Amino acid sequence: MLNIAIDGPAGAGKSTMAKALAKKLNIVYLDTGAMYRGVAYYVLQRGVDPADEANVIPLLDGIEMDIVYENGQQKVVICGEDVTPYIREHNISMAASTVSKIPAVRIKLVELQRAIAAKTPCVLDGRDIGSYVLPNAPYKFFLTASAEERARRRHLELAEKGVKISYEEVLEDIKARDHQDSSRAFAPLKATEDAVIIDTTSLTPEQTIEMIMSRINSK
Ligand code: DC
Repeated sequence: MLNIAIDGPAGAGKSTMAKALAKKLNIVYLDTGAMYRGVAYYVLQRGVDPADEANVIPLLDGIEMDIVYENGQQKVVICGEDVTPYIREHNISMAASTVSKIPAVRIKLVELQRAIAAKTPCVLDGRDIGSYVLPNAPYKFFLTASAEERARRRHLELAEKGVKISYEEVLEDIKARDHQDSSRAFAPLKATEDAVIIDTTSLTPEQTIEMIMSRINSK
């Protein structure tokens, strides 16, 4: 199956690349971060702290998640409700990182990710796709960039959406999320030995996509 794994920390350009790649190859883009965000949103809606494992676990059986595509756009549907409009809020980012430390949460979502990848050619972006979800994926990329550059990109993106937040605050959040995502015990963020590592700090999106496409075409 044509599965392309794109892993890396927040703001490294994963979703931009995954979207562009999926379009070029005419395959599906699976944003796995959106799935963790969906769980975080659901947990917060029920007044439960995403760090409170004992109270998060009993909620999991009630989460019926479907990933659907409308006009090429991925939607996260939980128990029939499209939660996509709410999961990009700034506070959901850290909550998703926190809830994603819980092994039972990961196991549930990884099962769904593997099921989708087994029947659909797709580009998946996340933190553990090449290392845990699909260790045999034929193509693995790990995108990275300096924390300052990633914060600059994220700050710009938030400013365009009208979110008022300082660059310093975004940088702090990025660093906290990097630490939490890389240091968790179960399936942490990490580059595997067989992944192509691309530092996008001083690359344009066009240059990055070109590097990825040339690796795919040369294999
Ligand atoms: O890619 P993102 O920023 O939307 O992801 C939000 C959080 O979800 C991220 O900080 C960690 C978690 N996540 C994960 O643990 N594993 C994935 N495959 C994708 C996201």
